[in-house]
Amino acid sequence: MQLRQDVSLKPYNTFGIDVPAEYYCDVTSIDDLREATELKQQKHILGGGSNLLFTKPVQGVVIHNRLKGISVEKHDAQHVWLRVEGGELWHDFVLYAINKGLGGIENLALIPGTAGAAPIQNIGAYGVEARETIDSVTFWYWNEQQLLTYTNRECDFGYRDSIFKHRLKDKAFIKSVVFKLARKPVYNTSYGAVSKELEEMGVTELSVKAIAYAIMHIRKSKLPDPAVLGNAGSFFKNPTIPLSSFNKLLERYPKLPSYPVNDKMIKVPAAWLIEQCGWKGYRKGDVGVHEKQALVLVNYGTARGAEVWGLSGEIMASVKERFGIELEREVQCW
Ligand code: EPU
Repeated sequence: MQLRQDVSLKPYNTFGIDVPAEYYCDVTSIDDLREATELKQQKHILGGGSNLLFTKPVQGVVIHNRLKGISVEKHDAQHVWLRVEGGELWHDFVLYAINKGLGGIENLALIPGTAGAAPIQNIGAYGVEARETIDSVTFWYWNEQQLLTYTNRECDFGYRDSIFKHRLKDKAFIKSVVFKLARKPVYNTSYGAVSKELEEMGVTELSVKAIAYAIMHIRKSKLPDPAVLGNAGSFFKNPTIPLSSFNKLLERYPKLPSYPVNDKMIKVPAAWLIEQCGWKGYRKGDVGVHEKQALVLVNYGTARGAEVWGLSGEIMASVKERFGIELEREVQCW
């Protein structure tokens, strides 16, 4: 393992923010991990850098997950358990699964980032979350310098949330994840945009490939490609509010969209709230709000992380003032 000093992190975050890391190393094996454990510097674990905002130079060592490989763990008549190493690109793993006709993650096609980040964030899109197919997560636990495996239940998954963002934050390096995928998938086309896209594509017989392609098409048409325009996907979570507050808002905003959560709480789309506050398409210098999806903040070139952070704060304040709703940032800030 090679430890480098003063390394630009620009290529390693989809926002394209240029900050230096005091120290940086790639981890490509368990031996590298053991070696990294010995480092005295403060450790920061980096995956695909697709849900990250750097607001200042990173002190300590950035440990980049580059573990690669996909293998069949086991199988039976209904399911195949695939193990994917943490440094594999998530979308490559989705392509691998759909090419084998295995179902469960096709709705998560084209989400940027690595497979190792999927459980941390419990990535989700178009009616599906990673937790529905994650069987177990194996991680290197820095405190005890050993590999541990947590079952799905032990990962404490929630909406864009897991134990890896709380008790195990910065303590676990995701080595690999096992997904339990279906040989005879149950398709989820509940999301209006997905069924509409499939119809437009002329799909008469559903397949995991057809769904993945429809979703790739929708994402390409709505969400900016980080390779072209720096961004980290949704910058905020969709807030969950009490039904009583929602009903009051509905009197003033009859078009407010919503998704039921339980009999007391309801989820509202942050993108809608932000758009109503007039932010959609806003640009100041090189920082802006995407013109097609108000939930996505973008870097037009040389934005600094602090500017993105500042804009997100302004947006949060205006949503709070107008709707009384406290937005929460989804993106992790270093
Ligand atoms: N909307 C607006 N203005 C906009 C965009 C959307 O009013 O600029 C409205 C839409 O009309 C719709 C609602 O907001 O009524 C929801 O929009 P959309 O279906 O685009 O989804 P979202 O809630 O904005 C979530 C996820 C995305 C995921 C999509 C599709 C979160 C924080 N975001 O966005 O995930 O791709 O659903 O399932 O839950 C990500 O996490 O990085 C991400 C992109």
